[in-house]
Amino acid sequence: MRILISGGTVVNAGGSVEADVLIDGETVSAVGRGLSRGAGGGSVQVDRTIDASGKLVIPGAIDVHTHMELPFGGTFAKDTFETGTRAAAFGGTTTIIDFAVQTRGRSLREGLDAWHAKAQGNAVVDYGFHMIMSDVTDESLVEMDQLVAEGVTDFKLFTAYPGVFYSDDGAIFRAMQRTATNDGLIMMHAENGMAIDVVAAQAVEAGNTDPYYHGVVRYPIFEGEATNRVIRLAEAAGVPVYIVHLSARDALDAVRGARDRGVNAFAETCPQYLFLSLEDMGNGFEGAKFVCSPPLRTADHQPELWSGLVKDDLQLVATDHCPFDFHDQKQLGQGDFRKVPNGLPGVEDRVDLMHDGGVVGGRISRERWVEIIAAAPARMFGLEGVKGVVAAGADADIVIYDPERRHTISASTHHMNVDYSCYEGRQVVGGSDVVLSRGKVVVENGQFTGARGDGRFLKRRAVGPTLA
Ligand code: URP
Ligand code: ZN
Ligand code: ZN
Repeated sequence: MRILISGGTVVNAGGSVEADVLIDGETVSAVGRGLSRGAGGGSVQVDRTIDASGKLVIPGAIDVHTHMELPFGGTFAKDTFETGTRAAAFGGTTTIIDFAVQTRGRSLREGLDAWHAKAQGNAVVDYGFHMIMSDVTDESLVEMDQLVAEGVTDFKLFTAYPGVFYSDDGAIFRAMQRTATNDGLIMMHAENGMAIDVVAAQAVEAGNTDPYYHGVVRYPIFEGEATNRVIRLAEAAGVPVYIVHLSARDALDAVRGARDRGVNAFAETCPQYLFLSLEDMGNGFEGAKFVCSPPLRTADHQPELWSGLVKDDLQLVATDHCPFDFHDQKQLGQGDFRKVPNGLPGVEDRVDLMHDGGVVGGRISRERWVEIIAAAPARMFGLEGVKGVVAAGADADIVIYDPERRHTISASTHHMNVDYSCYEGRQVVGGSDVVLSRGKVVVENGQFTGARGDGRFLKRRAVGPTLA
């Protein structure tokens, strides 16, 4: 199948150009002007031409932080690989990197196999895996090398959630040391979980059980302290480190300080920390809709996060998509905010929120927008040249994006398998018109035209030592 996308503005992180895009099978074969005219003066033979006049032609976005079917707090994140990747596609995201989970006391292999089984035959767009490492042992350290060789190149460890995913400093340091030899990358959930548990227990004892207090007890300084600590550990191990879902200025200060010292510290933030705030967690149990960790912060953190994105102290925006229904799953936390399953839906909204708040809002250029939603994720997670760029030789994961379309985000129209939206009623400017995944149109005219099982596992390159 040959497709010509004609007359659009191709936006890559490195620049924009008025150009056509020729797709041959699953890959882009050419980007340039006048591609409809063949070399000999005749017209090029294509099966289909898509008119992109007045539209942006951008690389399919990459969300490097999702949790499909994550077991958490006695339940499971509600989106499956089928429903979650379908929703992602509607929102212009054509690659996700999800977190496989090592259960404490079990092998990495067992966890990874379970995630392959969930995704294979179900995902509608391409996917990769990071590995959540809950148990650092002699055996699991050896397994890390094997996973890196299989294209599962990153390992998430936690200074939060004692008794569940938590690792102590020694375990974190050992895993970091291992990446110095296997070229993997350590991703850190950096909040001081031990201290948080003390304050949380005190809050509940004092009768402060509403979801709002989830946001209160997880102090920004606890995130700042843990972020600084894990960066220092990575420095000592001589490896890069990547901070996931950074929410607070305290943590950003730690990342910026490290980068100013020349340390290879990297971080993502998420739309919820740019667009939502602690105030959203008020209103009684309704606040459970917004319970995630790290929690939403007071609004004064937001301009600093935007500034971090502008100055590249934050390299990218991912969603941490982890949806739980409000009407049943979130209710597990009635009477005790500690029991609310942690996580928010968002995989479908990121591209539009970042376009609206970032580009339309005048904070970032459209090239920077493409950088933080697609190009940096590809570069940092071993997909450079394949995803995250509209260029000859790359996978034809392409979004024809209408930068002027207005729409209202709502649970009544979104495609995520969850009964509420954190952005209910928010009007955004910009929307994905046509979405292609490896040369196949998967969303068009508001309809899904892809197929369950078309998504492929992405064996990613290890990039640890090359990150700078
Ligand atoms: O609240 C969150 N972030 N839930 C998902 C698990 C995690 O820590 O990323
Ligand atoms: Zn986390
Ligand atoms: Zn997460």
